[in-house]
Amino acid sequence: MDLFEYQARDLFEAHGVPVLAGIVAHTPEEAKAAAEKIGGVTVVKAQVKVGGRGKAGGVKVAKSPDEAFEYAQNILGMDIKGHTVKKVMIAAGASIEEEYYFSVLLDRSNRNYLAMCSVEGGMEIEQLAVERPEALAKIPVDPGTGIDAAKAAEIVDAAGFEPELREKVAGVIVKLWDVFKDEDATLVEVNPLVKTGSGEIIALDGKVSLDENAAIRHPEHEELADKESEDPLEAKAKALDLNYVKLDGEVGIIGNGAGLVMSTLDVVAYAGEKHGNVKPANFLDIGGGASAEVMANGLSIILGDEQVKSVFVNVFGGITACDAVANGIVGALGKLGDSANKPLVVRLDGNNVDEGRRILHEANHPLVTLAENMDQGADKAAELANAAK
Ligand SMILES: Nc1ncnc2c1ncn2[C@@H]1O[C@H](COP(=O)(O)OP(=O)(O)O)[C@@H](O)[C@H]1O
Ligand SMILES: [Mg+2]
Repeated sequence: MDLFEYQARDLFEAHGVPVLAGIVAHTPEEAKAAAEKIGGVTVVKAQVKVGGRGKAGGVKVAKSPDEAFEYAQNILGMDIKGHTVKKVMIAAGASIEEEYYFSVLLDRSNRNYLAMCSVEGGMEIEQLAVERPEALAKIPVDPGTGIDAAKAAEIVDAAGFEPELREKVAGVIVKLWDVFKDEDATLVEVNPLVKTGSGEIIALDGKVSLDENAAIRHPEHEELADKESEDPLEAKAKALDLNYVKLDGEVGIIGNGAGLVMSTLDVVAYAGEKHGNVKPANFLDIGGGASAEVMANGLSIILGDEQVKSVFVNVFGGITACDAVANGIVGALGKLGDSANKPLVVRLDGNNVDEGRRILHEANHPLVTLAENMDQGADKAAELANAAK
């Protein structure tokens, strides 16, 4: 789960990372009041979960509360890379002397954590990483020891901080590691980390991604979820404990096992090229237990997507045998009744496939077509979706 900047700021503050005052505002009036409260020069910052807000005109320095009102009026409702700005943060204005970069992240390909740091931070960091990668220090972090004082010293040295700043920056980096570790994050990024006119080191921007697999350890993270922007079908699926991702196509997909579902998406997309370019409508992995209830839950989510014109159920029976899956499908269609109203192509293979097919044949449901194999099933589902478009 990615956080908004103001949420990252709050987590930073809670862990002792130096930040500036920041107040969220939903209207220009609230922005003006926040600027009055903070006093002096403030910065109006679009709160959207995407980088490059500064360049997109979503970060403006306001010299007075009236200016904060004006900028908030412009920024609220603005579209930044497909994200609509619904709130802004009014932050105290910093006198920036230098901008640095720091991040620590879960480095999946190396099965490790990685810290990155540069004395040349700011809005051009992506360009820096490409053009002069040597200016961006990359230091692997052992998950066992994390970033202690010694590791932080190694990081600031590798980044090339001047001697009088080393200790101060290292201290902030250790605290940012505390955020990463204690909150079970997969990313903590500060760009820019700044040195102010008075020599303070402050995190001026913050990007934090939390590891949802650790949600069980953090009931308090629940309230950080952006309910307002959540896709309603994805929210419903989450409540039902289903692994569902909404996509932009017409063929609903249900499968068991993430790998099989992903290849099903590919095969359906390929088949769709022959059938009016229809595409997969979703990812849905119902996992091991394809009971009638799980199947009914999955189908009800997919049938709730208005864009869906056909559904491809692609199941490889393993521990859950095909007859159980077939009974699950029949039971689900019974449970859903009239709300099951789109053609279903079913491909079963694996453990007890003959019995599974027999059950579906016998049920003889008018919406169900049995496919011989995955390619044929994908082709049929794409054809049916195209016909119903
Ligand atoms: N509180 C602030 N005071 C002064 N300048 C700021 C403040 N916040 C951001 N800036 C300036 O605006 C730039 C962009 O803001 P930032 O929060 O990094 O957004 P983004 O990374 O999305 O562009 C920063 O690099 C910094 O120069
Ligand atoms: Mg930034």
